[in-house]
Amino acid sequence: MSKFLNIFAPAIGGAGLILGAAYAIPTKNFRAEEAALAMEQAAAAEARAAAAEARIAEEAARAAEEVAALQAAAATAGPSDSGDPAPAGVTYTLGRTALPEEVAAWDIDIRPDGQGLPVGSGDVWTGEEIWIAKCAACHGDFGEAVGRWPVIAGGEGSLATDDPVKTVGSYWPYLSTVWDYVHRAMPFGEAQSLTDDEVYALVAYILYSNYVVEDDFTLSSENFTEVVMPNEGGFFMDDRAEAEIPLFSEEPCMENCKDSVEITARAVILDVTPDDPTDDTPASAPAEETAEAVDEADPATAETDEAPAEEVVTDASIDPALVAEGEGVFRRCSTCHQIGEGAVNRTGPHLNGIMGRSIGVMEDFRYSNVMADAGTEGRVWTEDEMAAFLADPRGYMRGTKMAFAGLRSEEEVTALIAYLTAEGG
Ligand code: HEC
Ligand code: HEC
Repeated sequence: MSKFLNIFAPAIGGAGLILGAAYAIPTKNFRAEEAALAMEQAAAAEARAAAAEARIAEEAARAAEEVAALQAAAATAGPSDSGDPAPAGVTYTLGRTALPEEVAAWDIDIRPDGQGLPVGSGDVWTGEEIWIAKCAACHGDFGEAVGRWPVIAGGEGSLATDDPVKTVGSYWPYLSTVWDYVHRAMPFGEAQSLTDDEVYALVAYILYSNYVVEDDFTLSSENFTEVVMPNEGGFFMDDRAEAEIPLFSEEPCMENCKDSVEITARAVILDVTPDDPTDDTPASAPAEETAEAVDEADPATAETDEAPAEEVVTDASIDPALVAEGEGVFRRCSTCHQIGEGAVNRTGPHLNGIMGRSIGVMEDFRYSNVMADAGTEGRVWTEDEMAAFLADPRGYMRGTKMAFAGLRSEEEVTALIAYLTAEGG
């Protein structure tokens, strides 16, 4: 079976149906082997359970004896003030001293320098056999994982990509963690059922499947610390106390740290900023940008086909493709505005006949003061006015209650104006 691994390691990449067929034969044998192993495991687990039960009974008897002895001692000592901490020499009748075996059962951590490792060893091929029997069902024959169980091997060089694959080989810095983890937690559902030598062998196999060691490798408590994990250099000790903290001033400012605080942007795109017509100091920076945007927009809008650049546009010669494009852009307006036959006021006024009309004069619509005033002043929706407004409504008309961030591209503005002209009549 060991031979098959050699053949198959390259085959995982997707080579060869023939190899796939050959693989079916040993797989059958595995099934039988696996079944036998499972029976063996079940028997072993039963034996462990029985032993544990006996042990618990023994302990319970011992604890009962202890409690009885302590109660007797407490009775002769007489009553003590219940609120006070126990005076020296007096114990509460709670718990008992942990047995050395119990401490040992908890004390199983293995450190990077090898501290805590039991004496023992195991080689790659022994490890492979145990792996196939006890681990491959979830982690795959070569650590490539079955379904969504964790991947154990591979992923080299993937950490800095968008799709990092963190495995023992690509990611884990210390071999002690592998030994500790497998010994402590695996096989999943039957934790701590492996012998020390089995763990050594499995760790050797995991190293082999990550190309860290050759197939003739034997891992032992002797050579354990000599193994260097590929990504060890990817980890370093937390050095923030020296590396980062000195970069901050000795006494960081914690209050009133800025001379003045200004609102420089509003979340208008999300439309979460409440409309406030009385507020005439909105985003100042965008307003400046608008001035530029308007200048830039001019030539573009003037280009709108043969339409007269200055005034009212009701020209049938408008480019239909441009109108169609504008219709697409209008979807962003249509949450609030209607246009065309049967259009009515919604959040915003309907836009029929808007081009060339005075600003803010639809009778049954309540405009903001600023928009109504613009109309009173005699301002009209020329292409220039419209282009400037659509590029940045709030920068162009401070205090408008049209909660729309503005159109970024001149192309969209041009197309939309063509659409408003054609559709609005
Ligand atoms: C029933 C499925 C199953 C079996 C069998 C199994 N494992 Fe696991 N293994 C898991 C799961 C699930 C995790 C992740 C557990 C978690 O993150 O809490 C895991 C995690 C691991 C990890 C850490 C992976 C990582 O990158 O975090 C290693 C190493 C490992 N298993 C080794 C083994 C070995 C060796 C065996 C055989 C002795 C084994 N497993 C058997 C399911 C399984
Ligand atoms: C979130 C709702 C909303 C969106 C989206 C919106 N508007 Fe408005 N629009 C309004 C409101 C409200 C007014 C009235 C503004 C005021 O009174 O200050 C208005 C006013 C206008 C006016 C002035 C109407 C008039 O009669 O003077 C025009 C033109 C206009 N919008 C065009 C557009 C276009 C084109 C779009 C899409 C690019 C758009 N709006 C997107 C809500 C919206």
